[in-house]
Amino acid sequence: MNEDAIASAYELLRGSVMTYGGEPVGTVAAIAEGSAEAENYHDCFVRDFIPSALVFLADGEGDIVRNFLRTVLRLRSQHQRIHGHEIEPAVLPASFRVGLDEQGQERMRADFGDHAIGRVAPVDAMMWWVILLNIYCRATGDKALALEPEVQRALRGILELTLREGFEVFPTLLVPDGSFMIDRRMGVYGHPLEIQSLFYGMLVSAVELLRDTPESHDIIALADKRANMLRNYIQLFYWLDLERLNEIHRYRTEEFGTGSVNMLNIYPESIPEWIVDWLPARAGFLVGNLGPGRMDFRFFALGNLLAVIFGITSQREAQGIMRLYQDRWEDLVGNMPAKLVYPAVVGKEWMFMTGSDPKNVPWSYHNGGNWPVLIWAFVAAAMKTGRGDLAQLALDVADHGLPQANFPEYYDGRAGNLIGRRAHLRQVWSAAGYILGHKIVEDDKLLDMFCAVDQRELAD
Ligand code: GLC
Repeated sequence: MNEDAIASAYELLRGSVMTYGGEPVGTVAAIAEGSAEAENYHDCFVRDFIPSALVFLADGEGDIVRNFLRTVLRLRSQHQRIHGHEIEPAVLPASFRVGLDEQGQERMRADFGDHAIGRVAPVDAMMWWVILLNIYCRATGDKALALEPEVQRALRGILELTLREGFEVFPTLLVPDGSFMIDRRMGVYGHPLEIQSLFYGMLVSAVELLRDTPESHDIIALADKRANMLRNYIQLFYWLDLERLNEIHRYRTEEFGTGSVNMLNIYPESIPEWIVDWLPARAGFLVGNLGPGRMDFRFFALGNLLAVIFGITSQREAQGIMRLYQDRWEDLVGNMPAKLVYPAVVGKEWMFMTGSDPKNVPWSYHNGGNWPVLIWAFVAAAMKTGRGDLAQLALDVADHGLPQANFPEYYDGRAGNLIGRRAHLRQVWSAAGYILGHKIVEDDKLLDMFCAVDQRELAD
C-alpha cells in the first residue's frame, strides 16, 4: 500500500467534514477548486456520505455518523408537500447543506428532489439511511440510537411507505427515472437493480432494528416476508448466464395465464447483439432492469456488487459475477475500477434514452464511465466471495492513477483511460471509497461489519 496516497485521500476526507453547531454532521460531495464546481457539490449527499461513514466507523469515529443519522431524520420536517399529494414523512432528502441566514445564524437546507437537476426523487436515501443505521449499531455497539422513539417511528414510516399496496404485481419496488446513484434519465425507471438491492438491504436491516411491539409486529412480519419474496424473485428473474440466455433465445411468447414460463413476455428479438459473444461460460450477472416485455441487459456494477455484499445472490451466482469481472476485466475495470454501466448506449438509443444528455455521451459519466467510488463495493464483494486476488488487482490499478489525478469523480473512455471531461476533482467519495477498499482488504472484521445486512445466507 502506498502510504502517501492513503494520506492524501485522508486529507481530502478530513477537509470535507461539514459541521453544524460545532458538531461534525457529514461530508461535502467535492472540495471546490475554482469556480467550475456545480453548486450542489457543496452539499452532503446521503449516498455520497456512505463510504465516508464506513471509513469513520472503521476508525472508531462513530460520532459523525450518529450526528448524520439524526440530522437526516430531523430534516424531514423541511419536506415541502405538493398540493394533491398525501403527507409523506418517510421520504428522506437526497442532500443537505449548512449556510448562514440574514442574521448570520447557521441554517440547514435539505433537497428532497425539489432543487435537484431534473427534479429526481432520491428513493435510495431512505434505504441507505436504514442500512447505515444498522451498520452503525453493530460497529459501535450503540443500540440505544435505534431504540429512540423517533428512530423507531421513522423505521416504521419507511416500511409503511415502501410496502404499501400500489399498482404492483411484482415483489420489486417501482420507482421513477434517476432515483439513485444514476440520478439522470438513463432508462433506469421501473425496477432498476440498484434500487432492488438497496430495498432488500433496507428490509432486512429494518427487521433487525425494529422492536417487536404491538405497533410494529405486523409490519415486521410483512417486511420479512417481502425480503424473502424479493430475494427469490431477483435470483429467478434477474439472473443471466449462458444457460438462461439460451432459454430466452428460444422463449415462447404471448403466453397467457398462470402456467406461463416467459411470464414477462420478453421477446427473444430484444436480445442485444453484444451480449451473445460477450457473456463468458461459467459467469453471469443480474440484469439491470426488468418489466413487462422489457429486459435491460446492461451490466450495472453497483446493483450487482451490493447484491453480492447483501447476500441476495446465491454462492454460485456471486462466484459467477466475480468470474465475469475476471474474464471481462478490460471492459468492467480497465484503467480505473470500476465501470458503472456496461456497455454505453449510442446513437439514436442514446438520444431516446437520455434525452440527448451531453453529460451522458457514450463512455462517459453514467453512460459507461468508470467511477472510483465503486472500489469499496468491488473489494467488499471480491473479499466476500474469496476473490482477494481480484480485490488486490483492482487496488493496484487504482494506486497507479487515482491519488496522482487528485481523486476525480469519474473517468471517460471504454477502458476508463481519461479523466472525465466534466468530472470534479477532489471528489470526496472517490477518496473515501479508495481508503475503504484498502481497509477491507487488510481487516476481515470490517467485511463482517459492512455485510451486516447479510443475515440470511440460505443454502443454494
Ligand atoms: C452525481 C451523481 C450522484 C452523486 C452526486 C454528488 O449527481 O450521479 O450519484 O450523489 O453527483 O456526488
